[in-house]
Amino acid sequence: MTNRLSLHNAVIPVAGLGTRMLPATKSQPKEMLPVGKRPVVQYIVEELEKNEFNRILFITGAGKHSIENHFDYDPVLIRYLREGGKEELLEELEFEQKDLRFFYTRQRTQAGLGDAIMHAQEFAGRAPFAVALGDSILGRHAQSQTLSRMREIFLDNSCAAIIAFETVPMEEVHQYGIAAPETPPQPNEAFTLRDVVEKPAQGEAPSQLAIAARYIFSPAIFDALSETKPGKGGEIQLTDAIRLLIRSGEKVLGLSLPPGETRYDIGNFESYFQAFIEFALTDPQLGAKMRDFTRELLETEN
Ligand code: UTP
Repeated sequence: MTNRLSLHNAVIPVAGLGTRMLPATKSQPKEMLPVGKRPVVQYIVEELEKNEFNRILFITGAGKHSIENHFDYDPVLIRYLREGGKEELLEELEFEQKDLRFFYTRQRTQAGLGDAIMHAQEFAGRAPFAVALGDSILGRHAQSQTLSRMREIFLDNSCAAIIAFETVPMEEVHQYGIAAPETPPQPNEAFTLRDVVEKPAQGEAPSQLAIAARYIFSPAIFDALSETKPGKGGEIQLTDAIRLLIRSGEKVLGLSLPPGETRYDIGNFESYFQAFIEFALTDPQLGAKMRDFTRELLETEN
């Protein structure tokens, strides 16, 4: 059985082109777009830190330098704020002090999420690792504990992977990787997957459970990825590698997000706007003012 203490590695792929978010992503990564006060990727790092994943590999690509810069320690800025009597703003940089180790590698061509994960092989070695997609926040203000629960289940079962799922409306199943559970899932319990179907038509979806941007993998995923043929657009799809794992007889589990926990997808404008509005309206300092403002705006619009 894997040593409990050894599951602290996490990978954040951030190399995608973000074309659905143009023009916002023409010269800046979508993973650096702000949602309320913070850039998306800061929420993800904070979630990982809270869930005790403290060795973090970013799979970066062209035009993604601002992500590396964001997690640097910035003594000049800190001195400026301290000497200028702006102590309260120093709190906003607390994330720089967290006990985290960052690693970076580059995906030289955007050959898909599966190809991006292949770049984590040397970092992971023979240990299991988490994957947190760089464009999805889990839980309001990233309060999710789901990765801790996934780690617990992964370590208690000898499985090759555990994947987080969210329930989506039937009209949206064609946008996601959808779970085919072996038996109907029970609340808060992991379920065994008999398949994962990429973007099924509405009538053909085996469930309404969509992959929710968090995974834990054993190194067996690398063998599956190396056998995965490029799919649509010449990209190596992570979902295809997961299917290969299942077909080769490996145990792959799913876990639904707990009730009330949302995945905020920053990959398209509709859900990005929703996430921004929700985080602004619930901001600890400015939320009440923003709610008044929105109420007045809606009243005048009507
Ligand atoms: P998406 O599937 O949303 O792809 O990536 P994308 O290329 O970023 O966006 P669109 O479709 O062009 O709008 C999900 C996550 O996987 C990363 C992205 O950075 C994002 O965090 N990714 C995707 C990679 O790291 N490499 C890839 O080749 C593709």
